[in-house]
Amino acid sequence: MTSTALAGTTDRQAAGSQWAVETHGLTKRFGENVAVNEVELLVPRGCAFGYLGPNGAGKTTLIRVLLGLTPADGGTMSLLGYPVPKHRDAALARVGAIVDEPRFHGHLTGRENLELLAAVREPAARGRIGPSLERVSLAHRADDKVSKYSMGMRQRLGVAACLIGDPQLLILDEPMNGLDPAGMHEMRDMILSLVAEGRTVVLSSHLLDEVERTCDAVAIVDRGQVIRQGPISELLAGATFEVEVECSDPDQARTLLESTTFGAQVVAGPKGLEITLPSGTDRDVVAEIARVLVEGGISLYRLQEVQASLESWFLQVTSRLGEGQ
Ligand SMILES: Nc1ncnc2c1ncn2[C@@H]1O[C@H](COP(=O)(O)OP(=O)(O)OP(=O)(O)O)[C@@H](O)[C@H]1O
Ligand SMILES: [Mg+2]
Repeated sequence: MTSTALAGTTDRQAAGSQWAVETHGLTKRFGENVAVNEVELLVPRGCAFGYLGPNGAGKTTLIRVLLGLTPADGGTMSLLGYPVPKHRDAALARVGAIVDEPRFHGHLTGRENLELLAAVREPAARGRIGPSLERVSLAHRADDKVSKYSMGMRQRLGVAACLIGDPQLLILDEPMNGLDPAGMHEMRDMILSLVAEGRTVVLSSHLLDEVERTCDAVAIVDRGQVIRQGPISELLAGATFEVEVECSDPDQARTLLESTTFGAQVVAGPKGLEITLPSGTDRDVVAEIARVLVEGGISLYRLQEVQASLESWFLQVTSRLGEGQ
């Protein structure tokens, strides 16, 4: 087989892979410190995927290993179905990435920075400069020097720099870092629109709330290890279930609920009684709680199911409750 035919076979095999990122046993050590520890990661194509973990969890290191900026010590990985490092060039031609803060030449304009980057890419990249600047809402400031850009504008220019390669996969390390609420909002909308076009966006973050709002699926990483991953809705289904109750006699309500078989833990909170039910509890229990209280002669003023947030779930699975992180 000729090398072109061989490349065609690799491309077809890669296109058949359902994973934008796939790693098995991926490991990176710095001396004794295992920054990426036997990571098994499966990122489906066409979604926004959050790599979520506290500071020092190994997020940036994983991204650097994926991009070949530092070698792995063990395991295998592929990007868009291309095994790397073997087919890194083919893979990276389809990947755009921002690691740490995007770096640009401050004395050049946004457009000039993109022209420099396009010069080392395929010829079509130059033609994508204008549309990419439009895309990240920087067209009106494209001819200002980057040194005059705000943090949010630099982050957006970073995304534009990715887009001149028309990537199928974008890997963004902490894209919300340093952004004010409006900047975060813009970044979130941009990520969602990139996904709507069929691209995959992997972003790392320690901001639980942002991941919950932006991503379809998530991997939670702690001390180098992925401890859970999957669609956010599925992960939350494994979380405990909470109900808040305001009523005429909280003490009596508590006694009544603790004598049921629901496995309820009841504490008095600022907004009334906070009832925590075990994971997997059926929603019918909410109606049961109301019945038990009313039949016990208690007047119910408010009964509200509280959606478990990714944050409380994250704290549960990392067992960091009360550590004041
Ligand atoms: N070049 C390096 N040399 C030695 N140790 C390193 C190096 N880079 C990272 N580490 C260590 O690897 C671990 C993971 O670091 P990493 O920067 O990947 O974490 P992170 O999840 O990106 O954290 P943050 O949220 O602060 O960005 C840390 O213990 C860090 O000290
Ligand atoms: Mg980092």
